[in-house]
Amino acid sequence: MDSADPAPRGPGDTFLVAAVSEVSAEERRAALTPAGVRRLAGAGIGCVVQSGLGIAAGFPDEDYLAADAQLAPDAHAALSRARILVKVGVPTPAEIAQLPEGAVVLSLSSPGPDATAALARAGLTAFALERLPRISRAQAMDALSSQATVAGYWAALLAAERAGRFFPMLMTAAGTVPPARVLVIGAGVAGLQAIATCRRLGAMVEAYDVRPATKQEVESLGARFVELPLEVEEGEGGYARELTDETRTRLQKLLEERVAASDALITTAAVPGRPAPRIVTEAMVASMHPGAVIVDLAAPSGGNCELTRAGEEVVHRGVTILGPRNAPAMMPAPASELYARNVAAFLELIVEEGRVVVDVDDEIVAATCVVRRGEVRSGVAETAP
Ligand SMILES: NC(=O)c1ccc[n+]([C@@H]2O[C@H](COP(=O)([O-])OP(=O)(O)OC[C@H]3O[C@@H](n4cnc5c(N)ncnc54)[C@H](O)[C@@H]3O)[C@@H](O)[C@H]2O)c1
Repeated sequence: MDSADPAPRGPGDTFLVAAVSEVSAEERRAALTPAGVRRLAGAGIGCVVQSGLGIAAGFPDEDYLAADAQLAPDAHAALSRARILVKVGVPTPAEIAQLPEGAVVLSLSSPGPDATAALARAGLTAFALERLPRISRAQAMDALSSQATVAGYWAALLAAERAGRFFPMLMTAAGTVPPARVLVIGAGVAGLQAIATCRRLGAMVEAYDVRPATKQEVESLGARFVELPLEVEEGEGGYARELTDETRTRLQKLLEERVAASDALITTAAVPGRPAPRIVTEAMVASMHPGAVIVDLAAPSGGNCELTRAGEEVVHRGVTILGPRNAPAMMPAPASELYARNVAAFLELIVEEGRVVVDVDDEIVAATCVVRRGEVRSGVAETAP
């Protein structure tokens, strides 16, 4: 195990976790909530937050103060005192420049090559929670899962609103209205939450995933698993493997009928570190009835539908294709609450008696640490999460 990392040189000697407002206008989540501050205080870790940090997520400054956070009037006042900076997005060059030497940065997203180099030049230590191994000990820190849960729930509500149909079967004096038919492609964390939410709304739900292990989970939620005669090898760590072009073409053919029959299609298929698999072709979209909707949660990594445009709404022959760029940020309050819990659990791992201890022999620390005291960790540049 490594010894404690030296405290950074900066004003004041209080141990502080800092959180500042996210720079992207689309990012409404906050990395620290009042409950997160209270939890960290219980572990002897003091926090400073930039005034206005939680406004977009529904947490006013007074709630942070009541939780014993210190309030900084601007980002600089928080950053310049940060022993650890916690964020959702990757820190900007300006934020990096304002951190004391030796500070630690924890974000959800992994820094790209430029940000990694800037973090290293500044002599910082950086962790990215999206690199967390999916092991049981890490579950409380699993921000990919917590944010995918929010995304899946929200995608189901969006589909229900935009499909323009009743999701449940309704029996009225004017006759019976059949339930909406929903198809979910990709039954990981987001897909399963979308299935559960659509089922609660009463829709008839079908789902497909290349991992046969998902069949049981899909069925336990009251949905039908679409069985396809397709042999697909499982990838490492329980993840899916990228399909060959030939298998993907077969998959598209086999799914054609199910897509054409659906009123709402929610796609969440992903392979870590790879562009999203293109599963829904233009011809498949054209086979859907006008008024149908596609919510493509894979939009940020290229989309599961070939007509998806990230952040845009595309209408093709009356079918609406929605490609949200940041679905979890659409429900910033629960997304922040869950993320702040993930952050607190991670900090409890790396902070011991007021000191940061980076134990690279720990599987969780080793996987998430991108830069260590100014050195880019080997394998980081080559292995996207
Ligand atoms: N042990 C843990 O703590 C833990 C926590 C969370 C998730 N997990 C597991 O991690 C795995 C990945 O979960 P995730 O939600 O992050 O996945 P993900 O976001 O990487 O992918 C979403 C889903 O898309 C599926 N997919 C990929 N290519 C596809 C294709 N061509 N067609 C159809 N579906 C396709 C994947 O199998 C996956 O289920 C799952 O096995 C999940 O159960 C484990």
